Amino acid sequence: MNVLILGGSGFLGTAVAQACVRSGATVRVLSRSGRATAGEGVRGDVRLPRLGLSAAELARVRTETTHVVFCFGSVSWTSGPGEVLETHSSGTRSALAFLRELPHLRQAVHVSSLLALGRSEGRITNRELYTGQRFRNWYEYGKYCAERLVRDTPELPVGVVRFGPVLGPDPRGGRPDTRHGLPMAFPHLLAGYPVHLARRGDFPCWITDVSSAAEIVLKALDKPIGRATWTWFDPALPTLGEVFTEVCRPWGVVPKIVEAAPLGRFTRLIGERVGTPRELADYAEPWLDLDVDVLKEIPEPWPVPDPDYLGATGEALRAGTASTETLRAGAEKRALS
Ligand SMILES: NC(=O)c1ccc[n+]([C@@H]2O[C@H](COP(=O)([O-])OP(=O)(O)OC[C@H]3O[C@@H](n4cnc5c(N)ncnc54)[C@H](OP(=O)(O)O)[C@@H]3O)[C@@H](O)[C@H]2O)c1
Repeated sequence: MNVLILGGSGFLGTAVAQACVRSGATVRVLSRSGRATAGEGVRGDVRLPRLGLSAAELARVRTETTHVVFCFGSVSWTSGPGEVLETHSSGTRSALAFLRELPHLRQAVHVSSLLALGRSEGRITNRELYTGQRFRNWYEYGKYCAERLVRDTPELPVGVVRFGPVLGPDPRGGRPDTRHGLPMAFPHLLAGYPVHLARRGDFPCWITDVSSAAEIVLKALDKPIGRATWTWFDPALPTLGEVFTEVCRPWGVVPKIVEAAPLGRFTRLIGERVGTPRELADYAEPWLDLDVDVLKEIPEPWPVPDPDYLGATGEALRAGTASTETLRAGAEKRALS
């Protein structure tokens, strides 16, 4: 396999690049920075025609690439429509156009998110995408648009792999990024502040670890997935409450998870008053009714999530943070802003 990973310098893309290299594939990693921890780094931009590659680079990529992974764009829940749609929608459109120019393309994989389903009602399987849902933020809508575009190209060998939140120590090393997504709650909880969750977080959050997620993408390239959609999450199905508890454990902190009655504006306001990250308030009750049998559509054997990846996330955060006082100061600044 000669794999081109678009966004391969990021959290998930790096783990995918490492898994591909371990499997013996030749790997090229494209991003705006051009950095690569595994494989060869190439500077490019998915929003530009032909990914913004130089003529020489373009010729090499065209003749050599057999497999492509779409793993670009941040997971920020707070980005505005311009940034999100440019990356996830226009970027996906131009990446799909690029696939048409690859004479030896055998399989591409689009990394999607369960959040593309937004506030869907009813049981979700791998078939559903638009169910009349509303979206909590532009990120969800961007991921919806990207998957829609992929589904609308039946002539291309592109499959979809959906994940919920992905955790674990960053494969690039360093402190886990707590600026976006679910990890935004960690500094807040570790600093001793409460989070309001329906059923005190006793509902699945479809989480997985970065290593098993990367193995699933590799399997999708290698099997190959074809035009199918797969959904992967840790089969042990940790609840949101358990995730918070396990990430806080290495700090000796028991997270303050407060019961939030069916979430309404009032609970939301209380949460925000005590500093709960505003974006998290939208995820304080069960996110979607996912059919757990979707896992069975992934050919076995399944990868085994790293044991204690939640604790390891907390450890990695601890190694890169001065003290709980630093966290408290950060959480307070956030609450006041
Ligand atoms: N992390 C999760 O929990 C999770 C869960 C489900 C799905 N996903 C999906 O997985 C993908 C990667 O997520 P991540 O957590 O790895 O994000 P990340 O760490 O922010 O990585 C994003 C990657 O995309 C690159 N990128 C951004 N804009 C680009 C552009 N215009 N052209 C080329 N490359 C660009 C970034 O590099 P440069 O900034 O240098 O360009 C980086 O390599 C996203 O599509 C996300 O929706 C993630």
